[in-house]
Amino acid sequence: MGLPPPVAGAVRRITVLGTGYLGTVHAAWLAETGFDVLGMDTDPARVDALSRGVLPFYEPGLEPLLRSGLKSGRLSFTTSYAEVAAFGDLHFICVGTPQRAASYRADLSQLHSCLRALGTLLDRPCLVVGKSTVPVGTAEALAERLSVISPAGLGCELAWNPEFLREGRAVYDTMRPDRIVAGVTSSRAEAVLRQVYAEPIAAGTPFLATDLPTAELVKVAANAFLATKISFINAMAEVCEAANADVTKLSEALGLDPRIGAAALRPGLGFGGGCLPKDIRGFMARAGELGVDQALSFLREVDAINMRRRARMVDLATELAGGSLRGQTIGVLGVAFKPDSDDIRDSPALDVAATMHGLGAAVTVYDPAALANARQAHAELSYAGSALEAVTNADVTLLLTDWQEFCDADPEELGGVVAKRNIVDGRNALDPDSWRDAGWTYRALGRPY
Ligand code: UGA
Repeated sequence: MGLPPPVAGAVRRITVLGTGYLGTVHAAWLAETGFDVLGMDTDPARVDALSRGVLPFYEPGLEPLLRSGLKSGRLSFTTSYAEVAAFGDLHFICVGTPQRAASYRADLSQLHSCLRALGTLLDRPCLVVGKSTVPVGTAEALAERLSVISPAGLGCELAWNPEFLREGRAVYDTMRPDRIVAGVTSSRAEAVLRQVYAEPIAAGTPFLATDLPTAELVKVAANAFLATKISFINAMAEVCEAANADVTKLSEALGLDPRIGAAALRPGLGFGGGCLPKDIRGFMARAGELGVDQALSFLREVDAINMRRRARMVDLATELAGGSLRGQTIGVLGVAFKPDSDDIRDSPALDVAATMHGLGAAVTVYDPAALANARQAHAELSYAGSALEAVTNADVTLLLTDWQEFCDADPEELGGVVAKRNIVDGRNALDPDSWRDAGWTYRALGRPY
């Protein structure tokens, strides 16, 4: 087998297939570190936008990186698999693996069609590296398939290199990863990946070489753990509400124990997005196929606690509205699944807004980045151009995504335009005292009132 030789400077040309958050950041970062990079996507509009230096989604810090790559001549984009196969001998697969409709399982159709189209064109020895999140066992099956369909046969090797970046912090996480996990089947593949990641490795990032299934599992296990931590603190919020205790103080105290840690321990409306919800469900489905469903049955509870937060949020708004949402004017601050993102996939905030509309409220929404996406998905809601406009004449105001601008909101300024000074803080992001001092009725998940 003739992989690119694992010596310094040997790998120069790299392709990245799939230009979502993961692929675009990865491609731009590789170009920034000095590689020649060809990004590929089947969507011509996306390739056109990226080629012009325009991001098809919101991600802080990424556009300058993209433009710098284009300007340097080291980064370009194509829709052609043939160009990809001809360009280089190291290919990163970054296509999406969403949840299947009407099932907990992951939809691997994009991955399979990408591998099929690329594989049949690979006529020289090469390394194909999967970065997408997949059910454990996928990589081994794909490796075998690749060796069958590619003209280079066993010369085409597969590795799995999961990604841990967070949306909204994708550039930072890519440049300074906590760890690099490389699922490999040969020391040559490991050497190639060590070369690709030479910069973060030199800066002290641990590099862990594993087998293929362990690398796949690291990713889903990490997301399952994060989801469990978030649901743990949200379960505590339920107990706090019943016991008249304060979950934010509880979280602070727990987080100071270094064995527990403060990350992913912020109580509130819970997790959403394109990763944690579908990953815990896909993980449960895969465990079932492997005959170890009991091992992950706790994730069902993690999911249920998370979904209950949304219902509780609507209940709190209903209480503040005097028992019914029918005919009430509701101002919603935030619909992205998290701040610094325009992503509305499985957004708890958007879910709550749509549910309140369904219960007869007139809901007006503002979000600094996600309005266009939200409008497309939920045309029935009203959309405002600013936070002040969204809460004008509101009987109840809800903070559902903790954008900094909402955390810094002035209770007097907002109080001047609302019909009633009622606020539900869905992210425990506000200082209750200053809002109550300004005459607001303040409610939050897991806090005394
Ligand atoms: C998550 C993981 O954090 C990344 O490590 C992983 O790479 C990524 O999924 C992925 O699989 O691609 P992301 O979905 O961008 O990243 O967002 P997080 O910052 O983890 O937040 C997820 C959700 O949990 C958000 O809705 C957020 O508001 C919520 N959250 C987060 C809380 O409710 N409490 C917290 O303490 C933290």
